Amino acid sequence: MQKSKIWDGAVRIFHWSQVLLLAGLWYSADQEWYGLHMTLAYTLAALLLSRLVWGVVGSENARFNHFVTSPRQAWLWLRHSPKRTVNGHNPLSGYMVLLMLTLILLQFVTGLMTSDDILTEGPLVALVPSAWVGIASTIHQWNINVILALVAVHIVAAIWHQWRGDKVITAMVTGNKLTAEKGEFKFRAVGLYLLLVLIIGGAFYLWQGDVVLEMLRSEWA
Ligand code: HEM
Ligand code: HEM
Repeated sequence: MQKSKIWDGAVRIFHWSQVLLLAGLWYSADQEWYGLHMTLAYTLAALLLSRLVWGVVGSENARFNHFVTSPRQAWLWLRHSPKRTVNGHNPLSGYMVLLMLTLILLQFVTGLMTSDDILTEGPLVALVPSAWVGIASTIHQWNINVILALVAVHIVAAIWHQWRGDKVITAMVTGNKLTAEKGEFKFRAVGLYLLLVLIIGGAFYLWQGDVVLEMLRSEWA
C-alpha cells in the first residue's frame, strides 16, 4: 500500500464549505433571517458553479468525464468489484455526486423565484409569471427534504467505506489515501478554483449586493 494524493484542494474546500453553508441555509430559513439566507446562498452558488467549471477544466479526477461512467459500466462495477478501492469517485458515487449537485443547484434556482408571501422574495419573482413563483416556492420547500435524505444515505455510505478500510472520509479531509496502485493524476492549482469563486461571487455581489446588504442591516439593527 502507498500514499496517493486523491483529492485536490478545490474539491475539499468545495465539499466542506458546502456542508457548513447548507447547515447555515437551513438554520437561517428556520429563523427567518433571509438576508443571511441569501448571503449564504450566493456564496454556495459561487462555490458550486465554480465546481461545475472545475468538472470540465479542473484536476484530472475532479472532471466529470473521469468519474461519470455509462450505466452499463456502473452496473458491471457494482456486480464485479464493489470492494475494489477507487482513486476518486467510484461509478456509483459518481451518479450520487451528480444528483446531489443538480438538486442543490435546483434549490438555488428555485430560491431565486421563491416568495414567503409576506415581505421576502427572490430577485426573479418580479420577472417570471406568478404561476412559476408558486411552483418554485413549493419545490424550494420540498426539495430540501430530498437533499437531506440523499445526504443521509451519502454519509452512511461514506462511514461504511471508511469502516471497511477504504478511508474515503480521511481522503476528503487530507486529500490523501493509502492505495494498492499509485494514483498519478494531474492536479491543477487550487488558486485557479478560488479565482473562479471570486469572479462568480463578485458577479452575484454586483447583481444583488445592495439588496442583500440592506436586508442584513435591517436584520441585525
Ligand atoms: C450537507 C452534507 C453533504 C453534502 C451535500 C455532500 C455532498 C458531497 C458531494 C457533492 C461530493 C462530491 C465532491 C466533489 O466531487 O466535488 C461529496 C463527496 C464526498 N463526501 Fe460528502 N456531502 C455532505 C456531507 C458529508 C459528510 C458529513 C461526510 C463524512 C462523514 C462526507 C463524505 C464524503 C466523502 C468521503 C466523499 C468522497 C466520495 C467518494 O470517494 O466518491 N460528506 N459529498
Ligand atoms: C442552495 C441554496 C438554498 C438552500 C439550501 C435553501 C434552503 C431553504 C430552506 C430549507 C427553506 C425553508 C423551507 C420551508 O419553509 O420549509 C428556505 C426558504 C426560503 N428561501 Fe431558500 N435556500 C436556498 C437558496 C435561496 C435563494 C437563492 C433565495 C433567494 C435569493 C432563497 C429564498 C428563500 C425564501 C424567500 C424562503 C421562504 C419561503 C417560504 O416561507 O415559503 N433561498 N430556503
